[in-house]
This record gives sequence, C-alpha cells and structure tokens, in this order.
Amino acid sequence: MNKYQFYSGLTATVRSVFDSGQNLSLTSKLMLISSMLYNSNKNWVFCGFYMAINNRILEIGPYQSKILPCTHISYGKGICGESAIKKIPIIVDNVKEYPNYISCDSETKSEIVIPLIKNGDFLGVLDIDSQKVADFDTNDLKYLSNIIELI
Ligand code: SME
Repeated sequence: MNKYQFYSGLTATVRSVFDSGQNLSLTSKLMLISSMLYNSNKNWVFCGFYMAINNRILEIGPYQSKILPCTHISYGKGICGESAIKKIPIIVDNVKEYPNYISCDSETKSEIVIPLIKNGDFLGVLDIDSQKVADFDTNDLKYLSNIIELI
C-alpha cells in the first residue's frame, strides 16, 4: 500500500466518524484522530496533540502511545515548541541529529509536527513520532494536514 492509498483510507475513516450525525466536541475529535492515527501505522510510537496555553506553553492533550510523554513544552523548545512559535510544520528525519529535540523515549527516530489552526486561531500542534528514520515527507504533511482540517 502506498501513502496515497494509506491516507485515502484513513481520511475516509475519519470523515465517516466525524459525519456520524453526532455533534462531536473538539476534545472528542482530537481523541478520535489520535487513536485512528496510532492504530493505523505500526511504526508510529506517539500520535497526539499538544495544546496551546496562554500563547506561551504547550500542554499535553489527547494522545495515544505506550510512552509517557512530557506534559509541558515551552514555546520555542523542542520540535513542538519550535512549530508553535513559528506556526509552521516541521519534519525531522533523524531526531538524534536535531539539536532542538526533546526526547521522551529512545524508540523515536523521526518526527512530524503540524500546527492546528482553526478559524484563524492557533490551538496547538499535532505530533507524530516514528520508530523509522525519515518516515515523513511532504506527502505525509499534505495528507495529515487534510485530516486535521476535518477538525
Ligand atoms: N519530541 C518532541 C516532544 C514531545 S514527544 O515527542 C511526545 C519535541 O521535541 O518537541
């Protein structure tokens, strides 16, 4: 299965869950997406959201993982904090070579972080950690951005 097929299936699943007729809260949507992402790819060891607090700190939000993630990340610190302060997505092929990286576990090799912006408001970031080096490219960014736009 190529990435296009993988993400087409995943996007359709997210869409059908969100369109189920229930009015899902933001928290429910974030929990559901975290779960669907985590269970869709065996290389992904953390899938979840860090949420913006007072425009200066990120707090752990809905996530799925076997690891215990750090609970708070200051803007500017780590890949998540860097994405939060710059409001840009960041793809890191090899976290061991990235100076501004916060390690939560030894398994993670590559990471993608995408800002979550709704109606012009920065809400936080989506963070996915993979145990495979260079697991993410601009296709992942495009398809994952489409998925979080469904929120
Ligand atoms: N590695 C992230 C920290 C969060 S954990 O990956 C869950 C970072 O550098 O911001």
